[in-house]
Amino acid sequence: MPFPKDFLWGCATAAGQVEGGALEDGRTPSIWDTFAAIPGKTYMGQTPAVACDSYHRFDRDLDNMKKLGLNAYRMSISWSRVLPEGTGPLNQKGVDYYKRCFEKLNEAGITPAVTLYHWDLPQVLEDKGGWVNRDSIEWFGEYAEKMFRTFGDVVPMWATVNEPIATYVGYAIGAFAPGRHNEAEGNQARHNILVAHGKGVEAFRAVNPKDSKIGIVIDIWKRHALTDSQADHDLMVDEDERNWKFYTDPVLGGRYSDYILEHLEREGTLMHIGPDDLRLMHLPIDFYGLNVYNRVPVTTDRQARADYTQGGNFMNNASEYYPKAISDAVRMINKMYDLKIPIYVTENGTYAVGDEPVGPDGIICDDDRIRYINGFLSELETVINEGCDVRGYFLWSLMDNFEWSAAYNYRFGIQSLNRETLQTEWKKSAYFYRDFIRRARGL
Ligand code: NOJ
Repeated sequence: MPFPKDFLWGCATAAGQVEGGALEDGRTPSIWDTFAAIPGKTYMGQTPAVACDSYHRFDRDLDNMKKLGLNAYRMSISWSRVLPEGTGPLNQKGVDYYKRCFEKLNEAGITPAVTLYHWDLPQVLEDKGGWVNRDSIEWFGEYAEKMFRTFGDVVPMWATVNEPIATYVGYAIGAFAPGRHNEAEGNQARHNILVAHGKGVEAFRAVNPKDSKIGIVIDIWKRHALTDSQADHDLMVDEDERNWKFYTDPVLGGRYSDYILEHLEREGTLMHIGPDDLRLMHLPIDFYGLNVYNRVPVTTDRQARADYTQGGNFMNNASEYYPKAISDAVRMINKMYDLKIPIYVTENGTYAVGDEPVGPDGIICDDDRIRYINGFLSELETVINEGCDVRGYFLWSLMDNFEWSAAYNYRFGIQSLNRETLQTEWKKSAYFYRDFIRRARGL
């Protein structure tokens, strides 16, 4: 059976990675503008100040979406563009920009799937403690409510938060903005953002935009033990618990696991959990957004690691080619939480490091990316045929963009972007995706 007729075929981007226009028309810096300006934090000190210039070139992006045959586009709103003080008055120019984007997408028959928070906290709020401060829950609630009131009639699909694990990477590990290194703060920040998600859902139900739905995006990187040893099993469990399960458990399951509560307690880094927090985190949502890129093999055994490295199926970027990551994740989440809501694959894709080879026809020849997308889509088709309710696929990404700490060195796009002219060009994978969609949609 082919993909369902009304399946959403999209590409995904995020404001902080494509917009640029960092300080234009009243926008204030986000934590990523601040972080990228600190020497050594991003590849070659590159910043998102210009990025893909989508703030001025949305029509270019739209034109490419049309040519690709997309019927959906996942993008995010820059919080500090619409609320330069983080809370309080709306910035009309920022509002106008998004209004136009959403209207143009709708006119073109492309469903806007909009994320409220894709890692770009307004710096003014970071200055007040950021996600570690419990007030962040209220800040986000206010922002969410304002967005639903402003754009509820033109946006049929909302995600509160994208990959909440990024707060942990930003506050505990320091590899992402705001670059703090404190485990207890990292745990508090990631807890707070999940409660903030709940506040967003609550605001959505109160505003109740017509014909619109709300969800969250959580990434799954399933650990696989490379041997049958107890040590490898324990390592797999530990990493699963501390990574994706930290988020899916309370949101989809209604509670943190005993494992995580006991371990964080023992380690002295357990977050404060307010009396209403679990209810908020577990408020019913309309869909689950799955970001999936790969599995993560784990082992304590050096020989097993070496065997895997030598015998595995790897791509040019040295990451494993493992398309079952997508079907494994869909089946696993459905089963673990007895999911009654549809899944959208909100991100999937692969990257090249640095320039990609150009073929004799002058087109970037990214065969690895084509193989990757094809493999993942074929696995996706398999689980849909098994009866799993997956309703859309968003390829990351429409074009090469600001890949956070790896900046412009990691290329995730199906289009390249000339950093001097800011013009985009289709890679071979863009033609492949266009043809795939045409067949799937019967165009
Ligand atoms: C996760 C994030 O949501 C997105 O911002 C990032 O660029 C991609 N995956 C690729 O790493």
